Amino acid sequence: MENYKKIIEDIYFEVKNVNDIGKVANYIPELATVSSDNFGVNMTSIKKESFGVGNFDKKFSIQSISKVLSLTLAYRFEGAKLWNRVDVEPSGNPFNSLLQLEADLGKPRNPFINAGALVICDILISHLKNPKEDFLAFCRELSNNPTLSYNEKVAQSEKISGFRNIALCNFIKSFGNIKNNVETVLDFYFYTCSLEMSCKELSEIFLFLADDNFTTHKGNKVLTMSRAKRVNAILLTCGFYDESGEFAFRVGLPGKSGVGGGIVAIHPDKYCIVVWSPKLNKKGNSYKGMLFLEKFTTKTASSIF
Ligand code: DON
Repeated sequence: MENYKKIIEDIYFEVKNVNDIGKVANYIPELATVSSDNFGVNMTSIKKESFGVGNFDKKFSIQSISKVLSLTLAYRFEGAKLWNRVDVEPSGNPFNSLLQLEADLGKPRNPFINAGALVICDILISHLKNPKEDFLAFCRELSNNPTLSYNEKVAQSEKISGFRNIALCNFIKSFGNIKNNVETVLDFYFYTCSLEMSCKELSEIFLFLADDNFTTHKGNKVLTMSRAKRVNAILLTCGFYDESGEFAFRVGLPGKSGVGGGIVAIHPDKYCIVVWSPKLNKKGNSYKGMLFLEKFTTKTASSIF
């Protein structure tokens, strides 16, 4: 960890001064109110040593990063049956695309594009008594943090502007791959996306994908080794939509981005590192986040390849 600290600090200040060619997401109006100057990094090792720099302790909207948490809970309920409802292939398309669903008869390519996450939310609604409360309780147990919560304003803001998600959900329902009421699924999905966490909290909550021996503070194992390996495999191939190849090429770690500007990257057996910088590149991934992580795995020679 000691060697990593200096490297993280050096790269942080180097990237901070880079001209940011990205743009803050504004299709969800509430996200556009966040200052683009925010920049934080936090790394937590599997020994629970933690190191942060910049705005590492400030909460932000985790958006699509929540898709990893909802997949994890659905995987616990359904096991391999899950893959009858959602595939594990990279889509090579934008995160909110409707294009492939027609040919694929309403089966989303993977759980990390919006179409796939909507099906995962539908599955969770079928299993949970109080989906929003129960999902939050699951996240709170994973992170041992009873203060985790949704941001109502962000959820409502997306609800009134989420036209593509509304279209996606209805379209998938027309193929029979959404079982519950469309409004209920969308409402739950928007809330999961509105979860707020800091870089530090995110780097802690995802330790279960880095550490085979991870158990929650209540002593529960989150996923079997085999299932954690599979989630990491889908993260590597699908975590950045039509930029997943680029992320694997430049960074070389399983990871997930969100339009709030966060990126989580996992080194199985070593650490979890999170970067937050709100300006996004054209593919919807944090511009400085990707740059930071590329420099980080290069300098530390710690990609998985
Ligand atoms: O559904 C949406 O469009 C957003 N709530 C989440 C999209 C997202 O984070 C894609 N990420 N890079």
